[in-house]
Amino acid sequence: MIKISPSILSADFANLERDIRKISTADYVHVDVMDGVFVPNISIGLPVVKAIRPTTDLPLDVHLMIVQPGRYAAQFCDAGADIVTMHVEADTEENIREAIQKVHAKGKRAGVVVKPGTPAEAVLPFIKDVEMILVMTVEPGFGGQSFMTDQMPKVRAIREYINAQNPACELEVDGGVAPDTFRACIDAGADVLVAGSAVYQAEDIPARIQLLRG
Ligand code: DX5
Ligand code: ZN
Repeated sequence: MIKISPSILSADFANLERDIRKISTADYVHVDVMDGVFVPNISIGLPVVKAIRPTTDLPLDVHLMIVQPGRYAAQFCDAGADIVTMHVEADTEENIREAIQKVHAKGKRAGVVVKPGTPAEAVLPFIKDVEMILVMTVEPGFGGQSFMTDQMPKVRAIREYINAQNPACELEVDGGVAPDTFRACIDAGADVLVAGSAVYQAEDIPARIQLLRG
């Protein structure tokens, strides 16, 4: 069963509670945290995660697009994150490893993320220690960009690694996932799909979420 994690980056920030209610048939709520340094945009931070926590029973899937994510990993858990994913490009291998441990010490799920230019092998040092691997199919920073089909071989390669080394780990794809692109992600082995604009621009949001499940 494919899980859907709608990105609230495409929600109306003046009506976040209402817009989170609109995705109640989804599996996770994807929260994009950006620091203006790791990516050229600033979005949601700790106070917003804390504020939305009581508005939904769905797990909060928090995608940290910040440098040295270990500095804030525990605080995002305390704010209400259930899953915290961190970019392998955002710090040294040792510090990312420590950041994963901080998330686990809070009893939450940890994951690593790879940008489009980062090879599949970059997840290998962490694969046995994470509950999620996220493959970006756009350059991180903005919603509404075009899906990068050329990332599918990487999704397939990471699916093979996961099957061999940590089958319980979820494989998530993020960026440009829409009715014309989601099938390629599923075929390549993804089991969680993030979708921002494709969900929030839909006339019928529950129907769109159902469609994306395949
Ligand atoms: C991009 C974010 C994505 C984004 C996806 O940096 O990580 O989660 O919100 O938006 P769409 O689905 O519109 O590409
Ligand atoms: Zn994201």
